[in-house]
Amino acid sequence: MPDSIVVTDAAGVRTIRMHRPEKKNALTQPMYAEMTRALREAGADAAIACVLIAGGPGAFCAGSDIGDFQKRAEGGLEPVTVDFLHALARNPKPLVAAVNGIAVGIGTTMLFHCDHVVAAAGSVFTTPFTRLGLIPEAASSLLAPMRMGHARAFALLVMGRPLTAEQAKAAGIVNTVVDAAAVEEVALKAAREIAALPAGAVALSRQLMRGDLDDVVKRVDIEAMHFKDRLKSDEARAAFAAFLARKK
Ligand code: COA
Repeated sequence: MPDSIVVTDAAGVRTIRMHRPEKKNALTQPMYAEMTRALREAGADAAIACVLIAGGPGAFCAGSDIGDFQKRAEGGLEPVTVDFLHALARNPKPLVAAVNGIAVGIGTTMLFHCDHVVAAAGSVFTTPFTRLGLIPEAASSLLAPMRMGHARAFALLVMGRPLTAEQAKAAGIVNTVVDAAAVEEVALKAAREIAALPAGAVALSRQLMRGDLDDVVKRVDIEAMHFKDRLKSDEARAAFAAFLARKK
C-alpha cells in the first residue's frame, strides 16, 4: 500500500486519508489505485457502514499530480483515474468528507459524490481545469450544474473562480463550516451518526436520492474521453510545463 493513502477502520467507519503533505495531497496514479481499492473493499464489507474521506491540515487535495498529467500526455503512464471515478460513482456506502484547506480539481469534484461535507472556515474550493487546457471530470459537468445551477457551476468549472467555504456551503457542496481544529471531529461525528442508522434503510434512501448512476458513469466516461485528448493538447502541455518549471 502506498503510504500516501492511509486507510483505517473504526466503529463501522472507514477513513480514507490522502497523505502526501509535501505535495499538498496531489494525487498520483498509485494513490488513485489505493483509494479505488479502499472504496471497493468498503463497499463489499458489511462491517463498514460509512466512509470518511479526509486530507490533512491545510490541504484536502491539490488535485491530480501535474507531473502524472505530463507523463500521460506523453503516453508514458496508464491512467487509473477513471477506475477511481467509477468506484466513487458506484460506491454503495454513504460518503462523508472532511475538508481542511485547499480542495483543487478532483479535490473539489469528488465532493459532488459525497453525501455530507464538513469544511474548515479557511478552505478554498477551485477547479482550474480550463486554465490547464483541460475540461471538468468526475461527472462534474453533470453534477455541478444540478447541484448549484448553471451560472455558479460555470464560474467554478469553466472560469476557475474559487469558492470560499461559506460560498461552497451556499452552493450546496458543503453542509457545515467549522473551525479548522474541529473539522475532523465534526466529520467523524457525522460519519458515526450515519453508521449508527439502520444500514438497509440508509442504503435504499441514498440509492433513491442519487437516481440513475448509469447516467453519472456515462458522463464520467465521456469526460474521460475528452480529457485524454485534452491532456495531449498544446494548451495543456504548455500549462503543465509552466507549472512544473515555475519559480516560487
Ligand atoms: N501536482 C503536482 N505537484 C503539486 C500539485 C499538483 N497538482 N499541487 C501542488 N504540488 C506541489 C508543488 O509543486 C510544490 O512542490 P515543491 O515543493 O516540490 O515545489 C508542493 O506541492 C507545495 O505546493 P505549493 O505550490 O508550494 O503550495 P501553495 O500553498 O503555494 O499552493 C496550490 C498550493 C495547490 C494552490 C498550488 O500548488 C497549485 O496551484 N497546485 C496545482 C493545482 C492544480 O492545478 N491541480 C490540478 C487540478 S486539475
